[in-house]
Amino acid sequence: MNDNSVRRDAWGSKVGFILAAAGSAVGLGNIYLFPMNTGEQGGAAFVLIYLICVLLLGVPVMIAELSIGRRAQSDPVGAFKVIAPKTWWKTLGALGVLTGFVILSAYTVVAGWTLKYAWITGTGQFSGVDSAGIEQTFKSFVSDGPSVILFHLLFATITVWIVTGGIEKGIEKATKILMPLLLGLLILLVIRSITLPGAGEGISFYLKPDFSKVTVRTIMLALGQAFFSLSLGMGAMITYGSYLSRNTNLVSSALYVSLVDTSIAFLAGFAIFPALFSVSELSPGAGTGLLFLVLPGIFNAIPLGQFFGATFFFLLAIAALTSTIALLEVVVSYFIDQLHWKRGPSALVVGSCAFLLGIPSALSNGSVDFFSGFMDVLFDYFFPISLASGALLICIFAGWKWGTQSVMEEVRSGCPSFKLAPVWTVLVRYVCPVAIAFIILGSVAPWVNSS
Ligand code: PHE
Repeated sequence: MNDNSVRRDAWGSKVGFILAAAGSAVGLGNIYLFPMNTGEQGGAAFVLIYLICVLLLGVPVMIAELSIGRRAQSDPVGAFKVIAPKTWWKTLGALGVLTGFVILSAYTVVAGWTLKYAWITGTGQFSGVDSAGIEQTFKSFVSDGPSVILFHLLFATITVWIVTGGIEKGIEKATKILMPLLLGLLILLVIRSITLPGAGEGISFYLKPDFSKVTVRTIMLALGQAFFSLSLGMGAMITYGSYLSRNTNLVSSALYVSLVDTSIAFLAGFAIFPALFSVSELSPGAGTGLLFLVLPGIFNAIPLGQFFGATFFFLLAIAALTSTIALLEVVVSYFIDQLHWKRGPSALVVGSCAFLLGIPSALSNGSVDFFSGFMDVLFDYFFPISLASGALLICIFAGWKWGTQSVMEEVRSGCPSFKLAPVWTVLVRYVCPVAIAFIILGSVAPWVNSS
């Protein structure tokens, strides 16, 4: 529970909260994974399945997480201790805190790469370089341990600095600047991309519905992508919800956050595919290397590419930053609420430990294979199993343990007339658990991965 002698931090405004929560949601998952999955898994067909997942599974789970956090006014571990005292449910909170910590350590490494790439591109080091040269530059960067660690450190330091500032004066203040900046840069890139000659081909690749590409794996990817992208299943929304006041409308908040997250993911595809098709013969499904190997070549070939390339990688860094802030805050809130540490030392210690844990992966390999391998492990195994298990247990907790009546009581404070409460109840009790169990099974079943 809280140390009651100290007033708990809180969001300054609903808009501030929505921007921060949307910031947590918008990350590498949106700018990079969503367009890739869409391109590879049937274009508009994937978008449609994804939208259904967000609406039927993502939004209900987000409402549940926000309610748990706001009711308990505590970190993920404390939240379950408050609502279900003396039960093992607190272990679910602990799993979330641990997951947040591990994702943070790896996320800052890749985020550091994006910063370095913004620098390399902006200073013209890619200008006139062919694809072999780009690969060479990439390899020499990722095998240059001190440089990778320096950018990893830089990123971790910025994250710690913002989280140290607190909820309103740190996280909210930063995201109120970063999110509009991110949207502005993204729109600029979209305009550049769709006005290039031959852009139409990219747009039609991105959006043309191709249901023949839809397999069981497609549905599994869409489900997984929805949970990862909305930052669900590991306590981030419980933590952010715990700083909310009783009169905030949790339903509209969950809808706004999901809308911003999905719109940014959707827009990112318009920044990538038209540019890709306008200059390249390369297959858009070029895999994880696309980001760091193919895109610099694309920016080389378009007018003002140096500027737009640097902008793109800077945009990725901002998206990653608003996510690392949330990941760090989950762990920091545990230190503050459970261990009664002060915010500054908590952020510093957790941030330093995450930085140290990230060093082996930062040094692990000087090749694209590392990045692909890292992404694959994170997204194919670690994420589906850990985040989906977390989301499944949250549904069971909200639907059966704490009970849908109690959740609705919490929701009604701030949203007195939630007409879809019966629909929400059916979704959280039955539809979500079954669908999520399907993701978990799918991620371990070889017949799904090979299809
Ligand atoms: N939602 C983030 C993304 O799309 C990742 C994330 C997951 C951030 C969980 C915070 C918590 O990249």
